[in-house]
Amino acid sequence: MSHPIPAPALARTPEELGRLRSRLGRVALVPTMGALHNGHRSLIAAAREHADAVVVSVFVNPLQFGPGEDYERYPRDLDADLAVCAEEGVALVFAPSVEDMYPGEQIVRVDPGPMGAVLEGASRPGFFGGVLTVVNKLFNLVRPDIAVFGQKDAQQLALVRRMVRDLNMPVTVVAAPTMRDPDNLASSSRNAYLSPEERRSALALSRALLAGADASVTGPVGILSAARAVLDEAAQATPPVSVDYLALVDAGTFTEVAADHRGDAVLLVAAWVGRTRLIDNVPLTL
Ligand code: PAF
Repeated sequence: MSHPIPAPALARTPEELGRLRSRLGRVALVPTMGALHNGHRSLIAAAREHADAVVVSVFVNPLQFGPGEDYERYPRDLDADLAVCAEEGVALVFAPSVEDMYPGEQIVRVDPGPMGAVLEGASRPGFFGGVLTVVNKLFNLVRPDIAVFGQKDAQQLALVRRMVRDLNMPVTVVAAPTMRDPDNLASSSRNAYLSPEERRSALALSRALLAGADASVTGPVGILSAARAVLDEAAQATPPVSVDYLALVDAGTFTEVAADHRGDAVLLVAAWVGRTRLIDNVPLTL
């Protein structure tokens, strides 16, 4: 006999969250912007391993979108997200409104410092300030013991770790590996924007990272040129892949590594395919 999947409790306001949170023991938080996919399922699975109860937040955070970015068209489907959370055994979903999260102007914000000004931060000014501010608010509201973030957003993960350390936040940050679709495209809510042709072109991102990883014995220069060769070819494809950055960085500081670097590093790529901006990365040991 199959048992019905218990629906997670739903908190729409900080007050409801406070009431429901107090009934839970050790909590692992998975902060999301909804449009939950397999990548989120793996974050929830990692969260389950670390706590008595998993809380998922679903909030498309206006603070982290710049003018002209996809805030309005970002996919929103709370019923579908609740169904995923039920399947994954989530105890509580926190899905506040913008008015509840930002009842007035958000004057005080978290400054991500120099690590937030490079790469994603350079291409998306204000992005990491918006991310860290909402993550800080979610930590204060949910009071999690653990928080799970994906390696897919490697710079975000590093900055959250740094914020927790620098601001003495009582939260343990757990990283979950990047999930990939069967064609090797990194799982992302923004993949839904891609036409079949764009998706085919977008596969160059993971191919470039793989080429870089295969060249890791040759050191930073060899890694970058192997990855660059794949992206140069993809720039000629239809539709073309337009690279924003390709970089090999220190995993702790996100500064580019020197040509003689040995040890851990992350190879990162960001690119446009049509109107969709995609990011991907692979951790490497040189
Ligand atoms: O990675 C995301 O989905 C968002 O940046 C986060 C961490 C939920 C903050 O809005």
